Amino acid sequence: MIYLADSANARDVRELIDLFPIEGVTTNPTIMTREKRDCGELLMEMRKTIGKDMMLHAQTMQTCAEDMVREALALNEMVGGNFYIKIPATAQGLKAIRMLKKQGMKVTATAIFSTQQALLCARAGADFVAPYVNKLSDICVDAIGVVGEIAREFENFGIETQILSASFRNVDQVNQVALMGSHAITLPVPFYEKLIAHPMTDLALAGFEADWRAVYGDKKPEDMILKA
Ligand code: G3P
Repeated sequence: MIYLADSANARDVRELIDLFPIEGVTTNPTIMTREKRDCGELLMEMRKTIGKDMMLHAQTMQTCAEDMVREALALNEMVGGNFYIKIPATAQGLKAIRMLKKQGMKVTATAIFSTQQALLCARAGADFVAPYVNKLSDICVDAIGVVGEIAREFENFGIETQILSASFRNVDQVNQVALMGSHAITLPVPFYEKLIAHPMTDLALAGFEADWRAVYGDKKPEDMILKA
C-alpha cells in the first residue's frame, strides 16, 4: 500500500515528504478552500514542491461530462507532470471518465460510497477509485467491508483499477483498509505522526539512552569507530 498526502498546503507537504515515504498528493475542493488562495496558484506551488514525477490529484468542480473534460484538460495542461483529474462518481462522471481516458488522461474516481459505484467507475476506465472510509462509518455503514468488497470484485474480474482509500479518523481504519487490499491511502499531513508514533517505541529508546549513557556518557558509536 502506498501513502499519499491529502493537502493543498505546499509547506506542510514539503516537511512531510522530507520525512515520510509519500508517493503523491491529493486535494479536494474543501481542502483547497482552507488555504484561501487561487486554485491555480495552489496547484502550481504543489507541483513545484513535489516535482513532476510525484502524483498530484485535483478535482473538477464541473457537473456535466463535457465541462468536466474541458476543465480536466485545462488543469492537466497547467499543472503538468504526473497529474490525475478527480472525477465524482456520478452518471455524468462515468461519461467524463470514458472521454478522458480516450484522451490519455489519468483519472481518479472520487466520492465513492458503494461497491457498485467503484465497479462502474473502474469499468469506465478510472485508474483509481477513492472510497470515503470515515464518511461511510459516520452513517453506520461497514466501510472496511465496502473496501474489501471493492478489492475482491476487482480481483475477481481482473480489473487493474487501484483503490485509493480516503477519509480517515483513526489508525485502526487505516490498518483495516490495508488488510482489505487498498492499494493506496491518502491522509491529512498531521495524521502521519499518529501512524508512526508509539509510546512503547519512546520507552524503548529512553531505556537504550539511559543504558548507553551510564557506560559511554556523551560518546556516540561514531566516536568509537576503529580505524584500520
Ligand atoms: O480526500 C477525501 C477526504 O478529504 C474527505 O474525507 O472525512 O476527511 O472530510 P474527510
